Amino acid sequence: MIDFEEKYHSQKRLTDQLMHALARVADENGHYTHDHSERVALYSMEIAKRLGKTRAEQYEIYEMGLLHDIGKIGIPDEIITKSDSLKDDEYDLMKRHPMIGAKILQHISEIPGLAVGARWHHERYDGSGYPDGLEGNAIPEEARIIAIADAYDAMSSQRNYSGVMKQKHVRAEIEKGKGTQFDPHIADVMLRMIDEDEKYKMNSELPVYMIKEYFGAIDE
Ligand SMILES: [Fe+2]
Repeated sequence: MIDFEEKYHSQKRLTDQLMHALARVADENGHYTHDHSERVALYSMEIAKRLGKTRAEQYEIYEMGLLHDIGKIGIPDEIITKSDSLKDDEYDLMKRHPMIGAKILQHISEIPGLAVGARWHHERYDGSGYPDGLEGNAIPEEARIIAIADAYDAMSSQRNYSGVMKQKHVRAEIEKGKGTQFDPHIADVMLRMIDEDEKYKMNSELPVYMIKEYFGAIDE
């Protein structure tokens, strides 16, 4: 006979594994290195922790980060993988991925935040983002957190002829986006994380210390 406890833990592990599998689907064809979604999830969780969120809230933001870009599976490959900048009509198509993601996730009633993260992670604090043009605190806080984690990872993963974008440039871009693209308070938290990351390892090595700290604790 199957032990109930064992079955329960097995189901929980299966849920985690399925969420990671879905996150990999979203990352597979992207511009970024693999594990983009995992890194966004981890940075988001760290920001949430520094904002004083409970462990359950931190973990939910992690899950939202994991699946924020799932809607990219509905965007044609040639647009997702295009290395030149997108033409207007291509960009319009790309901008559909938050709504596609929200639609994919909308019936996951156990974690309603998943659809929230997918739908609003490209909103901007000044109201000029998409898909809904929400402004300031009208954007759910979790989505404001994911937006900055996502932007940080996009910039610190960006490669060109001179290698990875320099940390001071990434920092300057975040600073510049305070109050326009980003929630200024959350941007300050991200800036502190950048300043503490003296060797600029937060992106290049999957932040193992974060994984250990959180998942070690959660499994207890
Ligand atoms: Fe996105």
